[in-house]
Amino acid sequence: RFKAVIFDLDGVITDTAHYHYLAWKQLAESQGVHFDHAFNENLKGIDRMGSLDLILASSSRSYTPEEKLALADAKNLHYQQLIATMSSKDLLPGAVEALDAVRRAGLRIGLASVSKNAFTVLERLGITDKFDYVVDAATIARGKPDPEIFLKAARELGVAPADCLGVEDAVAGVAAIKSAGMFALGIGHPFVLTEADVVITSLKEFNLAAY
Ligand code: G6P
Ligand code: MG
Repeated sequence: RFKAVIFDLDGVITDTAHYHYLAWKQLAESQGVHFDHAFNENLKGIDRMGSLDLILASSSRSYTPEEKLALADAKNLHYQQLIATMSSKDLLPGAVEALDAVRRAGLRIGLASVSKNAFTVLERLGITDKFDYVVDAATIARGKPDPEIFLKAARELGVAPADCLGVEDAVAGVAAIKSAGMFALGIGHPFVLTEADVVITSLKEFNLAAY
């Protein structure tokens, strides 16, 4: 019943969520801000500056725009070091099988990640050519939970939002899919992804015919 499937990248296709966690944790602690996995949950799907603002909100001091930019750059440099050694072994279980199943079913395939490193990660994973369209995060004005990135993917794929299935691991991402008017498949826990239409544990359970 769908004409396109639009995937998130971090935490859905590959576990870069862990690398983001490590890089943000180091940055936060360098500023005297406590950082743990629970806090990291709030950052999933949130763009770089938005994430930094959430972290610095717990800091005792205030930051100039220049200082913030320098901190965001430092985090990104660390993150890029962490992802430099990634390869196809970093694909999450079921990811390639899911992409291939969508392709076999004749649907269009998009990627909607707000990460400015998404193209690099796709190259490292060796799956760039599996997508018909990858949104360039640099062209997006509003990050998730705004629907902009999913709407842009649908438009570029030539498919109406109502005919799209969106796949997300983040609360903000599921919210973006729903406000874009798409069907939301959550990857994670139903108690966390309460807005999703269906939640599965990983793409290993992906079954296009079931949604
Ligand atoms: C994804 C991740 C976020 C990350 C964001 C921006 O949405 O889930 O944790 O902050 O991308 O990534 P970037 O690589 O541009 O810093
Ligand atoms: Mg994600």
